[in-house]
Order: sequence, then C-alpha cells, then structure tokens
Amino acid sequence: MSASNRPRTRAAFEGVVAYKPDRTPVSIDLSDNTSRWGTPPAAIRELGRVELLSSRYPDAYSEALRESLANYATVGVKNVVVGAGSDNVLDAAIRAFGEPGDVLAYASPSFHMVPMFARMNALRVNAVPFTASGDVDVDALLAGNPAVVYLCSPNNPTGMSIPRGTIERVVERAPGLVVIDEAYFEFSGATVADLIPHSSRLLVVRTLSKAWGLAGLRVGYALGDAALIREVEKSRGPYTVALPSERAAAAALVEDGAWMTHHVAAAVESREQFAQALAERGWEPLPSASNFVLVPMANARACASAVRAAGIAIRALAGLDFPNGAVRAANGNALRISVGPEAERRALLAALDSWSASCA
Ligand SMILES: Cc1ncc(COP(=O)(O)O)c(C=O)c1O
Repeated sequence: MSASNRPRTRAAFEGVVAYKPDRTPVSIDLSDNTSRWGTPPAAIRELGRVELLSSRYPDAYSEALRESLANYATVGVKNVVVGAGSDNVLDAAIRAFGEPGDVLAYASPSFHMVPMFARMNALRVNAVPFTASGDVDVDALLAGNPAVVYLCSPNNPTGMSIPRGTIERVVERAPGLVVIDEAYFEFSGATVADLIPHSSRLLVVRTLSKAWGLAGLRVGYALGDAALIREVEKSRGPYTVALPSERAAAAALVEDGAWMTHHVAAAVESREQFAQALAERGWEPLPSASNFVLVPMANARACASAVRAAGIAIRALAGLDFPNGAVRAANGNALRISVGPEAERRALLAALDSWSASCA
C-alpha cells in the first residue's frame, strides 16, 4: 500500500509528538517525581487477590473508588471524577469545555502535557510568562477570553506554589473553566478545594501517582461542582479505570493514610536536606513546595548524561523562561530532580560531585 493511501490525520495533530521518556534501566530513577518510598501495603494486598482476574467490566464510573476519594478529599461523591491518571482527567476536561479553536491559557513554564492535550483537542494555546516577582500575570492570562485556564500549584517544573489570592482572583474573573492542578498538593499541604462550593467553574485535578506511590495503576481524579464533574465524566467515557487499579487504590485510600503522610513527611525532610547540600556546593535550587527540586544549571544536559552513566536518572530541561536570577544566568537550562530517601540522595550527590570535579 502506498503512503498516499494513508488516512489524513487531524490538522490539530501537526506538531504533536508522542512522549518518549528515556526508559533505559537505571538503579535510581529521580526523573519523574513519583514516590521513592514504594507502594502502599493495602494496594499490594489487593493486587495479589485472584478474584481480581475478573472477566467482567469494572464499574463504569468507579463508584467505590470515588467514594474513597470523596472521604479523603472531604467532598461529596458527586463532586469526584476519576480517570486513568490525571492526564486522562485533564484531557477529558479540556475536551468538555473547549471548542476547537478556543484558547487554553496557562502560566508557563508548567506541566508539558497540558499544551499537548489542548492541541490534541484542537484548542489554541496561550503560554503566559510569570511576572517579575514570580506570580501569575492574571490580566495577561485572562486576556483573549480563554475557554480553559490551567494553573499548577505546586508547579511542575518550578516546584513553587501559586499564591492562594492569585488563584481566587483567576477563579472570580475567568470566563470559562479554571483547572488547578494539585498533583503535588500533599507535599505543600495547601489546596483550593475548599473554594469548590463557591465556584461552578473550578476543577481541582489531583493524582495518586505522586504522594500515594501508585503511578503504575494510573489513577487520577478531579474535584468540582457536581454539574461540572458530570460533563468531565461524559467526555472521559465509561470503564476507564481498570478493576485492579480501582480496588487497590480504594483500599490504599481507606487503610494507608498514615503510610502516605509518613512518607510525604520523609520526602519533605529529604527535600530540605538536598536543597541545603546543593546550596553548600554553590548551586541555587528554587524554593520547592513539592517532592522535586529545580536546579538551574547552564550545562544541565551534560550533567544529566553523566549522572545517568552512574545509574541515576534526573531530568534536564532547556528553554525555561522564568523570572529567577539563577534560571536566567543558566540561559533557561535546569535539572529537575525528584527527592528520595537518604541513601539515594547521597548517591546522587556523589555522582554530582564527581561530575563537577571532572568539569573543573
Ligand atoms: C503537574 C502534573 N499533573 C499531572 C501529571 C500526570 O500524572 P498522572 O497522569 O500520573 O496522574 C503530572 C505527572 O508528572 C504532573 O507533574
């Protein structure tokens, strides 16, 4: 069959490239901000149950899991939608509230998949730089009547929280859907979910992939007004969360709350020690409210390659436009490094030391 017989892809797909993370095996993976403290015990137990090898479909909209999440987030079941990772929920929300040709505006730099999801749903993207003080430029964000506004707090990749007052201003003034991505909220302890009863346009998106240690199960969720949630659910479609994922995640939420908070506290402590160790070496990590640290570095790519050769994966980023002296001095290059337990932190610092000694 000749190439000319191939069906035409949607025009909006031009420029959308499949995500290809480097997955060559390493002994310590600090590249994707998942938990380095393992999987909650109740989830492991549920995954081992043979009855899960069911020939039946799971519940179409994951009622039991939504109940567990509603208890965790102290909202009603009707205020929760789940999906196959928060990626799935973000995609569904953008499709539900953005017509092709509408604008999705977001404070940039941020989670790289969001502009991709916007393009995949034929929306136009307005990437709005942060202000000189590092806050969101609310006027610029709302100029052009965006159908969807996306803010991430704590933000990936900067690690910094967005002030609550700023989010409140955006929620008050935005003409369409306001998505606040709280993928890392357990590490900051701050949420705007309490604004949901006061706003029918606010969607708070979260995940079990980070603090809860369940990235492989692909479970994400969002909280919002019941009518808003119904629309996201329609857009997402039925049977999205697999039965083993639903069972294991629901069990973890009910039984492993103390496990999760214990490991979040360990991550926060490790993050502070790591930031201090970096500062002692003359690097200037951005203040983080998350489980990762952004370290501006002109030769970030070379550093990440050297560290990878030592068996540790960290993420090199380029082209960051963020109003921070160290980011500017490094020409927008930086390392994004997840925090892990002490032994992993020490191994990474040793690899960084040996790389920087080789550069001297
Ligand atoms: C800010 C943010 N949102 C959403 C996600 C997607 O998470 P998941 O699809 O695993 O729930 C990530 C993953 O890195 C993220 O950093």
